Amino acid sequence: MPKKKGFMGTKRLIRKSSNKKVFCSSSAGVTEKIAVVLSKVLPKKGNVVILFFGGLGYGKTTFIRGLVKGLGLNSGVASPTFKLVNVYKTRCRIVYHLDLYRLTTVDDVLSVGYEDIITSPHVVAIEWAEKFEDIYPKERIEVRLMYVSPEQRKVVVKTCGLMYNGLLTKLTSKLEVGKV
Ligand SMILES: Nc1ncnc2c1ncn2[C@@H]1O[C@H](COP(=O)(O)OP(=O)(O)OP(=O)(O)O)[C@@H](O)[C@H]1O
Ligand SMILES: [Mg+2]
Repeated sequence: MPKKKGFMGTKRLIRKSSNKKVFCSSSAGVTEKIAVVLSKVLPKKGNVVILFFGGLGYGKTTFIRGLVKGLGLNSGVASPTFKLVNVYKTRCRIVYHLDLYRLTTVDDVLSVGYEDIITSPHVVAIEWAEKFEDIYPKERIEVRLMYVSPEQRKVVVKTCGLMYNGLLTKLTSKLEVGKV
């Protein structure tokens, strides 16, 4: 751990807390389980934005299915590739599910009611977030799905903003207890 000169010349240890965790998933079921556990450590109310990055068939919708399941709804989650927005009324939360894959301009995004959705006091899950920049709030969770093999994915969860301080620690310890 690096030692750095601190206030008044005293030496202090600097430990930078990480805002990123990497999980290895060996099946779609495991990816869903990681998402179920994430759903349990999300803020119980107010705006929560989760951005999803990763190519076709990498598991973004699978992850969101787990998230919605964890919040109390067991069916109906599918990629809104043509509908653009799905809304799920779960036991705990309303979840907006957006898929930006087919959209090309910011006007396209605005035309689906984006401004109201992104600022709503609900959970907002966005697939294909990499299609646009600068349209997302600073406070957000980012989930990256990376392809390793037909059944394996690397799942990287990153938090941005003070609002999510401590979330990754809770997520990791709950996953360890559950031995996903
Ligand atoms: N470890 C894994 N995690 C997630 N999905 C997996 C895994 N292993 C296999 N799969 C399979 O990969 C596919 C992922 O499909 P999914 O619809 O979730 O992807 P997507 O990223 O949403 O794709 P798209 O960009 O087309 O919307 C499913 O058929 C799922 O069963
Ligand atoms: Mg999808």
